[in-house]
This record gives sequence, structure tokens and C-alpha cells, in this order.
Amino acid sequence: MKNLDFKYEELIAAIKKVAPFKPQIALVLGSGLGGFAKSIKTVKSIPTSSLPNYPKSTVQGHEGFIHFAEYKKKKLLLFQGRIHLYEGYHISKCILPSYISNKLGAEYLLLTNAAGGVNTNFIPGDLMLNISMNAINIKKELTDLFGIATIEQKNQLSDFPNANFNSIIINAALEENIHIKEGTYWFGKGPSYETPAEIRMAAKLGADAVGMSTVHEAVYGAACGMKVSAISLITNFAAGISPNKLSHQEVMETADLAKEKFERLVKRIITLL
Ligand code: HPA
Repeated sequence: MKNLDFKYEELIAAIKKVAPFKPQIALVLGSGLGGFAKSIKTVKSIPTSSLPNYPKSTVQGHEGFIHFAEYKKKKLLLFQGRIHLYEGYHISKCILPSYISNKLGAEYLLLTNAAGGVNTNFIPGDLMLNISMNAINIKKELTDLFGIATIEQKNQLSDFPNANFNSIIINAALEENIHIKEGTYWFGKGPSYETPAEIRMAAKLGADAVGMSTVHEAVYGAACGMKVSAISLITNFAAGISPNKLSHQEVMETADLAKEKFERLVKRIITLL
């Protein structure tokens, strides 16, 4: 794995200077799911625009804050806003939430995202626990990050998801009476949504949901040694599954409708960790 420390020394020093504690659990809040930060006690909020070398978030629904927060005595680090490859950022910037979480000492990394439902049993509003991911569309970038020698080993996603962490998530869903589906997350580079033909191909190759984030954060986080799991909120039928045109507006609206369920689940997961 390439050493990024020289690049982010100043950034990590700036966060550590104001960090009120060492977080145990880090969470990356996906499109429209950032409101979770408002539902718990935040101890310290840092606008990412104030941090040296931190990329600007350009997507609606990604606010650009890092929060230190507490819930049921658990110390949390929340990333409200993520950095996407489709925004034009190099992968070494896109993995910053995982990099920072690891540098601050987090043991668990929970990634969340909005995704389109490819599996025809999924409907908007469903939650999908990621049991696997596909990194085929992001191999070049992962090679840039890890170097040629180790890419074969690292891009297998072999340490993702953490089996124990996934069992805890399933138990949390049971306790909250939330039906959580399971499936494979398929990475699309974006920035445009997929075409119906691409979705048919992804479905044939085993995709259950499709999105434009998370895979690199998961690979990198797991390679750092954190326990990583991911939950997708299905915000729309993927292209061609329903006759409707996809829109970021729809993604945000579904996320808003499902946020109570999502927040309940995440809180229960935190309680169980
Ligand atoms: N495709 C890709 N990314 C997405 C989608 C989708 O259908 N929905 C939310 N993020």
C-alpha cells in the first residue's frame, strides 16, 4: 500500500489538535443520510473547508463536515459528506474518510450509501447489507492506490465485509424489527447514472445494487486493519428496471423518507458494538 502520510501530515495534525477523543466507530454518511449527525450529540464539528488539503464536497446532500459525536457512551467520528471519483478527485483523496478514521484510531468503519436497486426484489426505501462488492470498474484507481505488487491481493475485497460486524448489523436489524436485505454492491464510476444495458449486464454478473462510491473506502479501510461493513439505502430502481428517469432529486427524497428507519438501525448497531 502506498504511504500517504507525507501528503496528509498537516491535515491529520489539524484534526488531532481539536479532536476531543479517540473515536471507536467511524461512519461515512451517504447521499441524503447526513441528517444522522443531527440526531445525536455532537461534541465537536469541523467544517472540512477549514482543513488543509481536504477536497471540497461538490454534491448536494454532502455537507462537508467531520463530527466527533457520542451515542450511548460510544465515541463516534462522522463524515457528513464524502468525496467521489466522479467529482474528479484522485483516489488518494477519495479514501480520506477511511484514512482519517484509521489515523485517529477507529476500530470499526461503517460505510453507508444511496444506491439503485438492480435486484428486482428490491424497492426504494429498502436497506441492503453489503455482503460483497464488485471493484471491476475501479481496478486502475485501486492499482494507483496500492501499487502493482499488491493490487491482486487487495482488490479481492477479501477483508470486506467483516463477518462479525455484519452479524452485529443483522442482529441490530432484528432487534429494531427492520427487514434488512443482503446483496452485492456494484461500483459505477459515474458521474452519469448507468444505462439500462449496463444495468442488465451488472445484474447478469451478480449485482444487487449499484452506486458510485464506497468500494475504495471499503478496500482501503479493510487494508488498514479496520473492521468494515457497508449498508446501502436503495433510493430508486436502477436504470431500465422501472420506466421512470433517474434523478438525484429522487435519491434525496427517498433518503429523506427512509431516514427514520436508517437512523434507528445505525443507533442500534452502535449500541451493540
Ligand atoms: N446508480 C448509481 N448510483 C446511484 C443510484 C443509481 O441508480 N442511486 C443512487 N446512487
